Amino acid sequence: MDTKVILSEVESILKSKTVLSEKLRQICTYLKETIDHYDWVGFYFANHEKKTLHLGPYDGEETDHTVIPFGKGICGQVAESNETFLVEDVHAQDNYIACSIHVKSEIVVPLFVDGKNIGQIDIDSNTSNAFTTEDQKLLTDINLLIAEEIKENTTVVDQFL
Ligand code: SME
Repeated sequence: MDTKVILSEVESILKSKTVLSEKLRQICTYLKETIDHYDWVGFYFANHEKKTLHLGPYDGEETDHTVIPFGKGICGQVAESNETFLVEDVHAQDNYIACSIHVKSEIVVPLFVDGKNIGQIDIDSNTSNAFTTEDQKLLTDINLLIAEEIKENTTVVDQFL
């Protein structure tokens, strides 16, 4: 995977003249189509008052899990820990929410804006042990680019809550 090319494509999507939800949807589709082991790519955004995560733009199989309480599943744990969670084998996790029977591994990387964990990018793979620190670095860098885009007006993510 050529992370420089991927980051530059993400940057150009973010610079394009369309609304945030469409940019994020395009980023999901681009990552899913470009990286073989990415089978579901989506964003969740945090409602800190209600302590819930809300599904934003995504690409992949439809999921019933559009609202996830903080602490529940891999996503909910990342909402509380503020740390990337790389899961080699989802079936070995007790606190896991299955979205599809095909998923074998997962990575969730928090999205910080001005130091606040406002959401996350969540990737599922149908391959076990699919993710490495290279994915972690790439997704962290992608989230930094997205944070730049939304930091002037963070209320833009309220549409997803
Ligand atoms: N597996 C996640 C739930 C979200 S789906 O992967 C889309 C979890 O355990 O939090």
